[in-house]
Amino acid sequence: MSGQISDDKIEQVRDRTDIVELVSQYVNLKVSGRNRLGLCPFHAEKTPSFSVNAERQFYHCFGCGAGGDVFSFLMQSEGLSFPDAVRRLADRAGVDLEERLLSVAESAQIERRERLFRINSLAADYFHENLMEHPQGEVARAYMKKRGYGQKAAGEYRIGYALDDWEGLKNHLLRQQVSAEDARSLGLLCAGKLGRGDYDMFRARLMFPIFDLSGRVVAFAGRVLDDSKPKYINSPESPIYHKGEVLFGLYQARQAIRVSGDVLIVEGYFDQMALSRAGFAQAVATCGTALTADHVRQLKRYAQRVVLMFDQDSAGKQATFRAMTTLQQAGAAAAAISLPAGDDPDSFLHRHGADAFRTRLEAARPVMEIYMDEALKQAGSAVEPKVRAVEQVLEKIAFLPSELEQDLYIKELSQRSGIEAALVQKKLAAIRQNQQRSRASSQRQEPPQQAPRPSAGPGEKRAITRPQSSRAAINRTELTLLRLLLQNSQVRKEFVERGGMNLIQHPDAAVLIRLVLERSTASGCEIESLLPELNDVQREILVQARSCDPDEFAENLEQVSADCLRSLEKQALKKRADQLLQEMIPAAETRGDTGEADRFRAELSQLQLQIKMPPGHENHKKKRGNI
Ligand code: CTP
Ligand code: MN
Repeated sequence: MSGQISDDKIEQVRDRTDIVELVSQYVNLKVSGRNRLGLCPFHAEKTPSFSVNAERQFYHCFGCGAGGDVFSFLMQSEGLSFPDAVRRLADRAGVDLEERLLSVAESAQIERRERLFRINSLAADYFHENLMEHPQGEVARAYMKKRGYGQKAAGEYRIGYALDDWEGLKNHLLRQQVSAEDARSLGLLCAGKLGRGDYDMFRARLMFPIFDLSGRVVAFAGRVLDDSKPKYINSPESPIYHKGEVLFGLYQARQAIRVSGDVLIVEGYFDQMALSRAGFAQAVATCGTALTADHVRQLKRYAQRVVLMFDQDSAGKQATFRAMTTLQQAGAAAAAISLPAGDDPDSFLHRHGADAFRTRLEAARPVMEIYMDEALKQAGSAVEPKVRAVEQVLEKIAFLPSELEQDLYIKELSQRSGIEAALVQKKLAAIRQNQQRSRASSQRQEPPQQAPRPSAGPGEKRAITRPQSSRAAINRTELTLLRLLLQNSQVRKEFVERGGMNLIQHPDAAVLIRLVLERSTASGCEIESLLPELNDVQREILVQARSCDPDEFAENLEQVSADCLRSLEKQALKKRADQLLQEMIPAAETRGDTGEADRFRAELSQLQLQIKMPPGHENHKKKRGNI
């Protein structure tokens, strides 16, 4: 069962888990004074600087600064969320979590996701067996062999083959009592035209399963074995698959990425596999989409630097530069490798071998430098285009999070363009001010539901991502509530029981609060462990919340938090009332649907009553819509 894990249980798991024993499964530890010492599993090193303190049940790396308790160790080494780490350790320690019961809607949703994961897993096994054993799988085995892959790679990636058959998977799934509707929502089956039954979506294709970080199959990509079109068919988005959040190969590559400190990003499934086979196991592929902020957030847990390897044609370059901006905004270092025109990593390795690739990798340059080169080269020596190019480069430099870095690039830009450094500096300051002003003016407007996304380049499919962070200011009530949630476990408990999550309007505040709830233990919330997962807006909010006087409400924390919740509830009720009054009732009347209009009016008068009610009279447990 999954649900909310209580603070007590978390403490129990912590008590029953020994950090030395846990870490020893990953690291060879030697006694050194009061501590134990070993090679850090989170960065590449030759002399041990990773220390574990048995007394305090704490680890710390003097090399890379990683540190924390048993939970954060498991989160970092296995890429788990906090609750998953707790569950994993609870299993080991024999603690029964008896998680909080979920609402009917919540558990229905979880059950559905579980069913979908099961179906994908059944399908992956079915495809895999076809590839390994089915007589008709011979064509696919031959294809794999032609590209240089045998049983080992097929096993590691659980690659499969969809038979040249309209009902192979369908019959297999139906035999396993799978609901056809579920299989359709995963894009495995298609609904037949009138009078015809469902049929298989993937036929006569080599099948790549796409895994999430827990090793569950969330989607498939199917490649034809010849030159027919389309070359790839991909699973559609589903409740368990959002392509902007998943990277092909990350599940297999995590450890290698951590050790090398780099992650290589490629476009194709075969590129990822070819790199891995050639000894560059730190590679992942985007699933037919642009690199998103979500991808970067995940990668930052494992990698210090992101190395891009997009095609060298102009679309490829544009994609690289767009990815650069995404990476810069997330505060991640970005470098890029150039390959000869027409080559992808797979074909390059075939033609030139692993050593040639390693040479290229060692020559990877910061994308910012490449961008500067390109912009200045295209501008040529005429004055006006050159000035415009310098401005264009400065726009990007302004995004760099480190002032040191900005300074170095400004010097370089000045040198190469022949414009005095002081002038370039001045221009950068102006651009920065402009960016701040436009940010401030967007804050004054209504909080946008969805910030505008960077436009997609030619021939590129738009990345589907979650709404990006709204830059709108957080409202006072939400901020105060966040402060209290950070301070007090009773407040957290009350918040959860009252369905507080449903009341938070600011998207970044919602992300933050959810994390705080997930990560807090009875002894408090380890803010440091949250930081790497936050975007700039979220960090800003966190800083605001923490910069207030912690004792301000010390006397009556719970009263203040109840007031905040009440106020948010009122805001939500008012919003709904406004909607009924201004839009829904008039619309129903225009349609002539008097029954509906009456129902809305009844709801409205109920709401108005609730809005007037003094605190304490409302039904706390009542849920007000989903988030
Ligand atoms: N892609 C896709 N749908 C297509 C074509 C491509 O989703 N119809 C995505 C896939 O993720 C693919 C990547 O874009 O891996 C790169 O496409 P391409 O270069 O055409 O294929 P390769 O991966 O190089 O495949 P192969 O080497 O087998 O030709
Ligand atoms: Mn290729």
